[in-house]
Amino acid sequence: MPANLKEDLKNLPRHIAIIMDGNGRWAKERGLPRTEGHRRGADTVRAITEECGALGVEYLTLYAFSAENWKRPKREVDALMKLLEQFLRTRTPEMMEQNVRLQAIGRLHDLPQTCQQQLHRSIEQTSQNTGLTLILALSYGGREEIVDGVKSLLESIERGHLDKGMIDTEVFSKHLYTRYYPDPDLLIRTSGEMRLSNFLLWQLSYTEFYITQTLWPDFGKEELHQAIRAYSQRHRRFGTVA
Ligand code: IPE
Ligand code: IPE
Ligand code: MG
Repeated sequence: MPANLKEDLKNLPRHIAIIMDGNGRWAKERGLPRTEGHRRGADTVRAITEECGALGVEYLTLYAFSAENWKRPKREVDALMKLLEQFLRTRTPEMMEQNVRLQAIGRLHDLPQTCQQQLHRSIEQTSQNTGLTLILALSYGGREEIVDGVKSLLESIERGHLDKGMIDTEVFSKHLYTRYYPDPDLLIRTSGEMRLSNFLLWQLSYTEFYITQTLWPDFGKEELHQAIRAYSQRHRRFGTVA
């Protein structure tokens, strides 16, 4: 490990979230089908997960498929679902070796049946692991999550478990998909887009952003280190004057 990286690790983000973008453009630049970009993107997922685990990051949330991505051509959606299932099937043994605990957030029941089954198998199999928690955002939308949170809150009130007067930001956050995880410290978006695209709208309130022009299939360990280094030099004030 480079000496200056070691220094930055004193201020390591506990939770990194990544909008993995640019697979299509990566393929287009090479005259390849978009699905080839997604395939290469899955290799990056593997490498970045391994490195986050090795560095001691506690949570890594990856935006893999948005609520809006269902509007893509059926051929591309089908290929992405197949790739996801294959990724889970072939990479779960590696997650076991690396002590990675897999989790997922989003409207998971929208995924194809076989995909859901494999996902739940992988989650179950890795559930006792104590290293990095890898959270895949699948059929995920930040607005959808907030709406689902409101419904869950109303149910609690109807059942008499909660009083309207007790609702505050802390209570509400316990009704989101992310209730078990701390908010991300660092958000990385590849491919240069300056937007959230419906990702973790609630949770990113005080997250530090790192945006790179690099396309996701080209994003490597060195650039992850660069993002962490940039993060370690930020001064987070959370609205105070400290
Ligand atoms: C990100 O790459 C992967 C998903 C959204 C599933 P894109 O497919 O969005 O690639 P670009 O943005 O078209 O290059
Ligand atoms: C965001 O990327 C979703 C994922 C990375 C899964 P998109 O490529 O779908 O976002 P837009 O359409 O450029 O905003
Ligand atoms: Mg994109």
